[in-house]
Amino acid sequence: MAEFGQAFTSQMVVSSFENDQWSTADVKPIGPFSFHPATHVLHYSSTCFEGLKAYRWVDGSIHLFRHHDNISRLRASAASLCLPVPPAELIEEAIINAVKAVTDEIPDLPGALYIRPTLIGTELNIGAAGRGSKNALLYVITSPVGDYFSGGVRPLKLLIDDENMRSTPKFGQVKTGGNYAASLGSVTSARAEYQADQVLFCPGGQVQETGAANFMILRGNDLITKKLDGSILPGITRNSILKLGADMGYQVHEIDFTVDELLNWLPDSEAFLSGTAAVLSPVGSVVYQGVGHTVGNGEVGERSMQLKQALTSIQHGKQEDRWHWTSLIA
Ligand code: PLP
Ligand code: COI
Repeated sequence: MAEFGQAFTSQMVVSSFENDQWSTADVKPIGPFSFHPATHVLHYSSTCFEGLKAYRWVDGSIHLFRHHDNISRLRASAASLCLPVPPAELIEEAIINAVKAVTDEIPDLPGALYIRPTLIGTELNIGAAGRGSKNALLYVITSPVGDYFSGGVRPLKLLIDDENMRSTPKFGQVKTGGNYAASLGSVTSARAEYQADQVLFCPGGQVQETGAANFMILRGNDLITKKLDGSILPGITRNSILKLGADMGYQVHEIDFTVDELLNWLPDSEAFLSGTAAVLSPVGSVVYQGVGHTVGNGEVGERSMQLKQALTSIQHGKQEDRWHWTSLIA
């Protein structure tokens, strides 16, 4: 299978907002858009997106995972960017149409169809630096995917960055391209200098999240992650894992914690990333100020894998879905 995000299905869905009206969510062959050079998004980054997955269960049926939560988050991101906010029903229709159009192209488990709804500002106005785009385009593309990190399940190495921010204190909860652009320099040098897989952003010594996933610690009976305060993305996987963890008997702590506390915990902890793309990816070591620190024994944590199993068995239709997270669509 191609690397994550580099293969695309044959169809997409588009809906545009012009003259205060959304057009229908139409399926089209995937292909290039043509934009006037003055298009708002190209200058003022009026863009937000979502990432969710559809799974083909062993009986052949197709299911979405918690798509209503992605729809709510896209609408919240759109409002933060002063973009026209698409109605929830339109986004849902766009997602379902996009998946139904490519059911034959959805990989079998453990693969999935990654769904990328995207909203961009399309007003032709380079003067509109201080107000939102009046027009917008909502589109949904899809990509058959396997693992996000190359090499399958392996202990990841994170670089702890206590200087740079991936976002501003309140904009971290917005799923917008600018936040990813802000993290690129740090992630690129972490890879080049330390062969790190990702950066754990800890501005001012406060642990936040990585460039594309939330961060969690399992220590004794405690499941620990940063509390939601606007600075990090409110991950849907994060929320799912906290619920499953509580169900499995862990004490859940959504708290602020520092790099020093984290380094103290690491020798007798497991750590992992959580996200739609990352699913639950174990962390084996961190590098801080040039010094490496092992997480637990440095291997893939057994209890982290139990949590992953609890999550994926619901996503894959192998376990009762008591929270009604999955939706049958085809
Ligand atoms: N944090 C960031 C910065 C992300 O890009 C993602 C991925 O979507 C997440 C966290 C995890 O969010 P979710 O679990 O909703 O995919
Ligand atoms: C996701 O997990 O959906 C993400 O958005 C990560 C992505 C930036 C690759």
